[in-house]
Amino acid sequence: NVSPAHSASTASTLITNIAALVTNDPSSGDGSPLGLVQDAAIAIEGNRVVWTGDQSKAPATDNRVDAGGRAVLPGFVDSHSHLVFAGDRTQEFNARMSGRAYSAGGIRTTVAATRAASDEDLERNLTRYLAEALRQGTTTFETKSGYGLTVEDEARALRIAAAHTDEVTYLGAHIVSPDHADDPAGYVSLVTGEMLDACAPYARWIDVFCEKGAFDGDQARAILTAGKARGLHPRIHANQLSYGPGVQLAVELDAASADHCTHLTSEDVDALANSRTVATLLPGAEFSTRAEWPDARRLLDAGVTVALSTDCNPGSSFTSSVPFCVALAVRDMGMTPDEAVWSATAGGAAALRREDIGRLTPGAYADLILLDAPSHVHLAYRPGVPLVSGVWRRGMRVV
Ligand code: NIG
Ligand code: FE
Repeated sequence: NVSPAHSASTASTLITNIAALVTNDPSSGDGSPLGLVQDAAIAIEGNRVVWTGDQSKAPATDNRVDAGGRAVLPGFVDSHSHLVFAGDRTQEFNARMSGRAYSAGGIRTTVAATRAASDEDLERNLTRYLAEALRQGTTTFETKSGYGLTVEDEARALRIAAAHTDEVTYLGAHIVSPDHADDPAGYVSLVTGEMLDACAPYARWIDVFCEKGAFDGDQARAILTAGKARGLHPRIHANQLSYGPGVQLAVELDAASADHCTHLTSEDVDALANSRTVATLLPGAEFSTRAEWPDARRLLDAGVTVALSTDCNPGSSFTSSVPFCVALAVRDMGMTPDEAVWSATAGGAAALRREDIGRLTPGAYADLILLDAPSHVHLAYRPGVPLVSGVWRRGMRVV
């Protein structure tokens, strides 16, 4: 929620001289999904967008910002990250880069480090990655528990996360806790019982890692169903490392998002296309595990809504950079620059079932990025270059 101080603010700003403004409103500008307006301006009042259009028709305001013929787009919506953790896994990454395969087992290393960390350590770590992400244009992020795996450690992670975002996800079912290695059924009972009771007050979402070596389809269904009964909305780590039941389960339970979607049958693609469930692709994970890329083109051609996010975590994808993910998606996953930018903004909002972010239309939050480039296409065209030169969040300039 936005603080009352922000909501009450009536400060207004007009950003003018925008060479290309991405609104994500197909009824604006060029009529494409990006709703691209050339030679544009955008007016902000308080924390909201109040007007966008041709700069020659802009309303008068006291506070004018000259975009200098550069591009403006909605702030990135990173709808999938794991930022409450301690330590890193440099050695594991090094081993992978000399040929070792990624496995979910590495999660245990981070669980041990996270349990041993103080609240202050976890808070400091989270704040550091959030600051990194904000400098790269992320104005909304989702984040999860999943490196505690005890009642106390999962609730602690969510409490810390909830101080920074409304988009908090309970992932007690990341792997079977090492304390229950011989009793997975007992762990599922804990996750759907006492742990859920302790965690539900802090979370909006419930997630499960549905994968060999983590939770099978029946366990995942039991976990997500228990979360739904407590008022949490489901999302799921699905079909990341192998084919499996995750995507079908996501559709069956009307999950907001099926995340990863790297190994899909044509039935999986059809199920997504005929559902409200967004496919969230996380190319940082394939980059950092040297795995095959998810086929974004196949999903888009089937009519599936695609989101792009970082999956930022110390194991499989240690990047907080949405621009990096956009560049990978364009280079290696068959997306056009327009599609990738849409997926990293409006797509992320769809994966969080939000309509107040991810677009620059009157009434939406004034979360936006000023690029040091004349077009959003440069995010993919100039990979690795720090092009984000200004960020407004809730109408206030923060970068
Ligand atoms: O989304 N797939 C499961 N969870 C994370 C990886 C977690 C880890 O390796 O620490 C992911 O890739
Ligand atoms: Fe993940």
